[in-house]
Amino acid sequence: MLTSSVDLNAKIPNNVGLADDPKVRRALERWQPRFLNWWHEMGPTDFEPNDVYLRTAVSVDSSGWANYDYVRMPEYRWGIFLTPRDATPTIHVGDATGQPAWTEVPGELRTALRRIIVTQGDTEPASVEQQRMLGHTAPSLYDMRNLFQVNVEEGRHLWAMVYLLHKHFGRDGREEAEALLERRSGDADRPRILGAFNEPCDHWLSFFCFTMFTDRDGKYQLAALAESGFDPLARSCSFMLTEESHHLFVGETGLERIIKRSAELEQLDPNGDIRAQGGIEFDMIQRAINYWYSHSLDLFGGEVSSNAADWFAAGLKGRYREGSRFEDHRALEGTLSIPVVEDGRLTVREVPLRNAMNQILRDDYTADCERALRRWNRVLETAGSSFRLSLPSQRFHRHQGLYADQDFDPEGNPITREQFEARQAEWLLQPEDNAYLSSLMVPVRGPGQFANWIAPPSRGINQQPLDFEYVRL
Ligand SMILES: [Fe+2]
Ligand SMILES: [Fe+2]
Repeated sequence: MLTSSVDLNAKIPNNVGLADDPKVRRALERWQPRFLNWWHEMGPTDFEPNDVYLRTAVSVDSSGWANYDYVRMPEYRWGIFLTPRDATPTIHVGDATGQPAWTEVPGELRTALRRIIVTQGDTEPASVEQQRMLGHTAPSLYDMRNLFQVNVEEGRHLWAMVYLLHKHFGRDGREEAEALLERRSGDADRPRILGAFNEPCDHWLSFFCFTMFTDRDGKYQLAALAESGFDPLARSCSFMLTEESHHLFVGETGLERIIKRSAELEQLDPNGDIRAQGGIEFDMIQRAINYWYSHSLDLFGGEVSSNAADWFAAGLKGRYREGSRFEDHRALEGTLSIPVVEDGRLTVREVPLRNAMNQILRDDYTADCERALRRWNRVLETAGSSFRLSLPSQRFHRHQGLYADQDFDPEGNPITREQFEARQAEWLLQPEDNAYLSSLMVPVRGPGQFANWIAPPSRGINQQPLDFEYVRL
């Protein structure tokens, strides 16, 4: 049996048969109060007694997997769900393509798999920590609810990875599960594993950029892991993707609503001065895009990577939509052209496909981001603004990979450190920007009311009206 029926009444709702697995069930039941302590200490501040209109995963049926109701966040039913499979699953990529997938961890892949699961798992609580103060400055009840929805689901994603650690990695797994509750975003001594998950997210422009760009990295990582030959990981990630799409929606539409409102304020002001009208200037939005997009690009890892090649060869991680977009799942032939800097000049290097897997995933991500940029620019056009937003080059402002040791302008041209420093205030969010943005962030809490700097969404959540009481304060 590949999936048990959904047990919603268990202490930990699940479809992984915890009732018949006392050892793992007890281990998870011991972890549960520690998770709740972490939530209390590091989750959204001060809104624990409030009823929030949240969706909860209650099924793995793609036609209706969620239930919407008022819930207090600490009472959210964090569960463990794997996407069901009908047929015997096979390995999707690499040297063993077509052979049966693993239901237990192969010994020789144990270290790599644990690292993959821990790294993914670490991002989930990290983002909750980064966002914990934002409830106080929400521009509407609708947005506050969306923030909390993202937060509780990141909590569930942590559960998803912790289940795999407890179930498949014995004592090491239990220790890793503890450590996931001990690291802290931005902490000097025990930071979260990946860079972008230690960056401050102090205001809602950063929150929307984070959910647009950083959660979107998550989408591509989950999609690549949904192709994994380790079947429990593949099925876990595949269910996480159903929740993740709402997070991306929050980011993409949040930015779109800011852009729309800024364009309206530009028209409203006799001098086209958005700031004079209490809005967010386009230059500042562009700097926020540059900042979060570049940090998020780092999350994909090195452009040329022997690790990526090993993981693909072993069948641990595939490409985005491997099954429908690629015919050759071994990728032993062919190359990807990757720009590199030699003697301060750009040239192109041909990299064998397997070594370029990180870059192949990053290029798919960039294409997805470009789609959103085109959509936002259509909003600007319709509103009569002449401003256009853009994505910087993948080489701009990087801290990992081939471009980390050289400075580039947003067009991707190599420049000196001095040239970068002279212009970075034009290109990246500055302390003055953050101070101005924080000054704009006054809470708006009447049902149906929205802060001046953001347009209302086009519709509510789960067919509720915009003036629905999404959070009962
Ligand atoms: Fe997540
Ligand atoms: Fe997410």
